[in-house]
Amino acid sequence: MMCAQHRYLVLWTSSVAGSGVPVMHCAAFTTCCSALWSATEQFPHHTVTQLVRMLSITQWWKLLSMTKTTLTSICFSSTACKDIPSDIFFLTDSSESISEEDFQKMKNFTKSVISKSSIGLDKVHVGFMQYSTNRRLEFDLTKHYNLEGMLNTIDVMEQMNEGTRTGRAITEVSQYFDAARGGRPWMKQWLVVITDGKSQDSVKEPAHALRAKGVVIHAIGVDKANRKELSEISGSSQRVFIENTFDALKELETKLALKFCEKDCKKTTDLVFLLDYSSSINQDQHTIMLNFTASVVDNFNVSKEFAHVGLAQFSADPKHEFYLNTYNDKTKMIEHILNMNYKGGNTYLGEALDHIRDYFHESNGGRRDVPKNLVLITDGNSKDDVEDAAEALRKMGITIFAIAVGDVYYLQLLQITGTPEKVFNVENFDSLANIKTKIIDEICDTVPEPKIGKLEKRDVHD
Ligand SMILES: *[C@@H]1O[C@H](CO)[C@@H](O)[C@H](O)[C@H]1NC(C)=O
Ligand SMILES: *[C@@H]1O[C@H](CO)[C@@H](O)[C@H](O)[C@H]1NC(C)=O
Ligand SMILES: *[C@@H]1O[C@H](CO)[C@@H](O)[C@H](O)[C@H]1NC(C)=O
Repeated sequence: MMCAQHRYLVLWTSSVAGSGVPVMHCAAFTTCCSALWSATEQFPHHTVTQLVRMLSITQWWKLLSMTKTTLTSICFSSTACKDIPSDIFFLTDSSESISEEDFQKMKNFTKSVISKSSIGLDKVHVGFMQYSTNRRLEFDLTKHYNLEGMLNTIDVMEQMNEGTRTGRAITEVSQYFDAARGGRPWMKQWLVVITDGKSQDSVKEPAHALRAKGVVIHAIGVDKANRKELSEISGSSQRVFIENTFDALKELETKLALKFCEKDCKKTTDLVFLLDYSSSINQDQHTIMLNFTASVVDNFNVSKEFAHVGLAQFSADPKHEFYLNTYNDKTKMIEHILNMNYKGGNTYLGEALDHIRDYFHESNGGRRDVPKNLVLITDGNSKDDVEDAAEALRKMGITIFAIAVGDVYYLQLLQITGTPEKVFNVENFDSLANIKTKIIDEICDTVPEPKIGKLEKRDVHD
């Protein structure tokens, strides 16, 4: 890959603590991959998006302006993912509407994506199922722990040439993610659905059920594929890829492989949870809420450098659980969360929001210049006014996410978050799992705008 033979100069900016004055840093690296990773490690709170310009120093001094995606694509190598074990299942459409040649291209695509992953017993496990009207399991997650075995099986796979029952196929493949069938539900689990047409059965419920188990679905549509259906499968337009031809799949290989590389959120953040334990929530629902919170926390690197996490519960009164600097150890924190008591009582959300302000204070582990997030989970309407308390928090630079369960008073949530984009309304407590990834992504994305130094575009000889 072009990456390896060149030297790169990476420039990025940061600001002197508290002053807001941008400072340009630069460093030279032998490969852009090591540049990318070193820079993010050295400056954990300066994200890749802040690597604003990259110069390759070969025969040309070429000033490139790159987005995070292109930068990462260029830097991608088969080793980039090596420390991220996961379960990946491919579910590929094998119906008669796909020509023999296109079927071959689809095989090539899956082989290529798999080849970019690091396959092994304690690494990435891959499964493969074809479907048409019926289904054919080619290999489950435990059949091959080596790349060659997988590629050989895919090579000899024959097209089924029937109709398209995607919904049924999703239901069928679901079991293979369970521990009983060799899945590892405690790790990242992915399903990649590739289809060329509209399903003859409904995909919505089966896909929803699978996602509720924590499996993240990417939906790839080729040719006449239906965008709405793909969104129903993946649960988010962000995990839908549409290509007009099977040839275009080539472009997608690296992009998709990179998706599997997504690490846990390594962002620096001060993250506080405020959980409603009033009477309108019963004890079981409370347990689900605690599980959910614990699983969100599990996606952050809880440590002095990265995520500081604090938590309080509330009903008629706020109840302190822990501050941002109470735990450096994620295991202990999760243990605390899962053992928290349930109380009941009225919902005084305004008072709770007032109370939670102190949690971001420096004496309680809050840090300057670090993105601050408050995640509120509630099911009820507050007995007191929330607007002033919420506004005071937002004025301090705190981003508030409101996760609302059931029928809630939307306007009040809007008053709290200040924007509809930060309100997440789920039907019931069981649906919380469906928004987990979204919430984590959003928290990971709340970084103060990078202060980008202006650079002129120019080409200079070496
Ligand atoms: C699939 O890949 C093989 C090997 O790289 C190549 O020879 C073949 O032409 C590809 N098939 C199609 C239809 O693109
Ligand atoms: C919470 O998680 C534990 C362990 O993962 C599980 O045994 C329990 O059933 C979950 N509780 C609920 C209510 O989801
Ligand atoms: C968390 O951050 C620490 C540095 O504080 C690092 O040593 C560790 O590897 C990180 N853990 C994960 C899972 O990224």
